[in-house]
Amino acid sequence: MTTASAPGKIILFGEHAVVSGTAAIGGAIDLRAAVHVTDEPGRVLITTEDLALQGFSFDMTAGHIQSARAAHATRYISAVLRELDARDMQVSIKSSLPPAAGLGSSACIVVATVAAVSRHQGHNLSKKDIAEVSYRLEKTVQNGLGSPMDTALATYGGYLQISKDIQPLDLPPLNMIVGYTGIPHDTRSEVEKVQNLRKRYPDLVDPIFQAIGAISQNAIPLIKEGNAAETGELMNINHGLLASLGVSSRELEELVYAARGAGGALGAKLTGAGGGGCMIALPGRSGPEALLVALRQARAAAFQVKVGCEGVRLEEKR
Ligand code: PMV
Repeated sequence: MTTASAPGKIILFGEHAVVSGTAAIGGAIDLRAAVHVTDEPGRVLITTEDLALQGFSFDMTAGHIQSARAAHATRYISAVLRELDARDMQVSIKSSLPPAAGLGSSACIVVATVAAVSRHQGHNLSKKDIAEVSYRLEKTVQNGLGSPMDTALATYGGYLQISKDIQPLDLPPLNMIVGYTGIPHDTRSEVEKVQNLRKRYPDLVDPIFQAIGAISQNAIPLIKEGNAAETGELMNINHGLLASLGVSSRELEELVYAARGAGGALGAKLTGAGGGGCMIALPGRSGPEALLVALRQARAAAFQVKVGCEGVRLEEKR
């Protein structure tokens, strides 16, 4: 058996403005997808656990007819298996990330599948190879849409600064609380909405993008020196600017205010494309527990994550 795992991610600062070239900061989190590959002579079988469509089994063996629903649920994994010309194997996926929540669930599944299947076939891909193949495949499945941020974070881990290119950032681990609205978000429509707003009001939206980019730049030294109070303040400003672009929602606002109020957060903002999906909050003096309670009372699925975690890794071969 060959096993690989890869992390999900959050965007700490800079979403949406990054589409127009200003800086954003993303971090890998300690929620991972694990992919196990075992020999299965004459077949190519995918089994999933813990995804939205729980407990799926999909037989890719040539000539085997499958339901459209199963094909859709396993489309990222099938794309990897076709690309790597996989044969005679069973691929099992176990992910602890909610799908369509903006936490990079599809990217970490693609990255872990590329790593596990290629190693099982006897290849030794570099991280650069894994990141490149994974980005290309994720983009193909998403009809050409997608930035390399999610697949790069799932591959390299840690923190990355994304602007016109991707640079690793040397920052200490952070504990954050994630609140999930339970509403799946649609990155494409949120990005289109913001880009349309920019076309209509360039003189208003461009300065907002510039300010968001400046927040990302200012945050780097603050995170480095462990200045949680000011990092939190920048999260609050960033959230306000994202709301002004129309990508917050009533549900996200409720969670952001619950976090800052009863939760005692030093800062709270939506993370990712918005419209639904998740927000993040930086625990204050009352600690992570108070924040988890406040977010759950506001009807979120809330959990603690460590940011800055390890990227893709091969687990012990048994
Ligand atoms: O919600 P996510 O994780 O898909 O993040 C989208 C981030 C955007 O900046 C809105 C778009 C992008 O491609 O960078």
